[in-house]
Amino acid sequence: MFPRPVCIDDFEKYAKTILQKSVYDYYRSGANDQETLADNIAAFSRWKLYPRILRNVAKVDLTTSVLGQKISMPICVASTAMQRLAHVDGELATVRACHSMGTGMMLSTWATSSIEEVAQAAPDSTRWLQLYIYKDREISEQLVKRAERNGYKGIFLTVDTPYLGNRFDDVRNRFQLPPHLRMKNFQGFDLAFSSKEGYGDNSGLAQYVANMIDSSINWEDITWLKKLTTLPVVAKGILRADDARTAVKYGVDGILVSNHGARQLDGVPATIDVLPEIVEAVEGKVEVFLDGGIRKGTDVLKALALGAKAVFLGRPIIWGLAYQGEKGVKQVLEMMKEEFQLAMALTGCRNVKDIDKTLVQYPKDFRTLCSRAK
Ligand SMILES: Cc1cc2nc3c(=O)[nH]c(=O)nc-3n(C[C@H](O)[C@H](O)[C@H](O)COP(=O)(O)O)c2cc1C
Repeated sequence: MFPRPVCIDDFEKYAKTILQKSVYDYYRSGANDQETLADNIAAFSRWKLYPRILRNVAKVDLTTSVLGQKISMPICVASTAMQRLAHVDGELATVRACHSMGTGMMLSTWATSSIEEVAQAAPDSTRWLQLYIYKDREISEQLVKRAERNGYKGIFLTVDTPYLGNRFDDVRNRFQLPPHLRMKNFQGFDLAFSSKEGYGDNSGLAQYVANMIDSSINWEDITWLKKLTTLPVVAKGILRADDARTAVKYGVDGILVSNHGARQLDGVPATIDVLPEIVEAVEGKVEVFLDGGIRKGTDVLKALALGAKAVFLGRPIIWGLAYQGEKGVKQVLEMMKEEFQLAMALTGCRNVKDIDKTLVQYPKDFRTLCSRAK
């Protein structure tokens, strides 16, 4: 029997033992040499915590909100495609687990369960749709309308994927969906990424993106999307302060600082390292979120201290799904919640408003401080 997981990495170890290699590779991989993949995690360790003491932390309140929706903790679920590869219940398990934990789920355009199925699985849950813009705009338009009709509370527009990043394992494995699965939001063989010959030696998904996704998307598309929907729109995949300012000018309601889990351009900084300049650039005009490399409660605390309103988990949710479906995702969320609560208590925070930037420092600044103190 597999030992009881005591940290998020344990869930991944288990997933590796049971998932088919090409599936595990697809979920785990980053782009190219995976420098950013490693850095997304390593960067969190570089930021150090400076706890406050003696603050009566007998009660710690984790509740907050995202885009006006109340949630039980600032830890939500990021869009990860094709979750039925990890567990037969796929996205339905994830949304049920999120709902029972009182937090929100971002559903991928490329889900193996449809917008409607996910809504029906947990009608009262907080859900957002992650959107890709297709060459055929009508397709994306319909996705947005379906999200509105089915009670989704926002659109996360992915802005970092005009082409798919080069993920070596997916190329080696010629990654594609098995015949029993498809991207459930779509009708039609090609659009639904149904299994077929003809992707050649490439990653099937990279070929799908080249065929279907609009690489001409630009700032005017934010205007297009804002006109299309009354739902809040978040730009997912911003890494620069100037882009953040432009996004605000174009009317986004939020910014998700993300490097797509290091799966797009390798060599970009870890998200936690660029968060402070982006928070500064938007001057509190919109909510700023972060994903990438969050594996521990202290990571969540560091992100909030540096100005994120909430964080999103990608791979950890997949590992939970592979472990035990809905129950496994719930365990991952519970573990993150407990770890975050402990991190708050041990830094003297009674609620999320107590989390401020004095709680974290980069060692460089720390050295300056120490030398000044002498
Ligand atoms: C297997 C996998 C599939 C993903 N699918 C999508 C997707 O369909 N759309 C999207 O915008 N981002 C996608 N992402 C990126 C995530 O939304 C998120 O940015 C990233 O996973 C966060 O990093 P983490 O995995 O280190 O937590 C995917 C990530 C992974 C690992």
